[in-house]
Amino acid sequence: MEKSVEFQNNDGVNNLSKEDKELVLRLPRVKGWDFSFLYQYQGFWCPPKFFHGILSFQRHFQAKDTDIVLVTFPKSGTTWLKALTYTIANRSRYTLENTPLLTTPSHDLVPFTDLEIYSKNQSSILEDLPTPRILATHLPYASLPHSSINSNCRIVYLCRNPLDQFTSYWHFVLQPQPADPVSIDEAFEKFCQGVTMFGPVWDHELGYWKASLEKSNNVLFLKYEDLKEDIIYSTKKLADFIGCPFTNEEEAQGVIEEISKFCSFDNMKNLQVNQTGKLAHFGMETKAFFRKGKVGDWTNHLTPSMSKRLHNLMEEKFGESGLMTFLQSPKVQKKN
Ligand code: A3P
Repeated sequence: MEKSVEFQNNDGVNNLSKEDKELVLRLPRVKGWDFSFLYQYQGFWCPPKFFHGILSFQRHFQAKDTDIVLVTFPKSGTTWLKALTYTIANRSRYTLENTPLLTTPSHDLVPFTDLEIYSKNQSSILEDLPTPRILATHLPYASLPHSSINSNCRIVYLCRNPLDQFTSYWHFVLQPQPADPVSIDEAFEKFCQGVTMFGPVWDHELGYWKASLEKSNNVLFLKYEDLKEDIIYSTKKLADFIGCPFTNEEEAQGVIEEISKFCSFDNMKNLQVNQTGKLAHFGMETKAFFRKGKVGDWTNHLTPSMSKRLHNLMEEKFGESGLMTFLQSPKVQKKN
């Protein structure tokens, strides 16, 4: 593991205070496959340009009991979860004919609280957000601001089969084609060492899994594959959990089906805003967030032995937590 005494030019840490720069410089550092360098902070790997927003969020954020916090490991369906939650929570303000999602990417309607709002020193806008505030982060559970953990806010965690998540991220990192792309084998090797943005993935998932068992009223643990399999059931479950349940009348009118269809991969991908737009803060093309939207695409890119290796790792890391069983269960567990 490499330690540095100087940041590289591309590290993007100029907005850190002297104390925070010193803090980051003391952290273990490795060369990542996704970012040039990753620093290990509170057990997860983080690109230096994220520190300002994360530290500020952790230190100053004041949660409200009515908050809804959307959490994902990158490339696990964040774009989808943001669109669904935004649509459910705002359905009395906007119809599907005039929803802002038609013209604004879900990532801009539900920006990352740490990586965007706090990163730009814009926390005051949080006070003006309508109730319930919909917030988003990729932080592990143990690194959430204390006020979020101690409040009665609702946390929705969406996980995805790590093989598909890795495959999705691998393609995402290749857009636009980097000058010196890392091979998929090399990237997978680092991934299995836990070295990837916000990784290791098993710690991330396990943290929220345990929290969902301990505080089931506050933490909902969802699976991308379940949403794909039964989006009506999952949309209803999400709405119930965030305190915006569908009425019998809405159910009878087919509102759940309409929202699910509107937020579906095919519909979202084909919206003009998601074909030609760019994200306001990150500047990435919106179309980069819509690739295939399928379960099991990993089989086209990874070998069975890679799958076995990751499977064994997860089994070992998850131990008796029950998470492996949950992840492997092919059917939506409707009694949850
Ligand atoms: P693939 O690369 O496997 O296609 P994130 O939103 O966390 O960045 O994750 C992106 C992944 O979610 C991509 O997966 C993307 O295609 C998929 N995705 C985006 N919107 C989706 C939707 N409405 N329904 C299903 N999958 C979606």
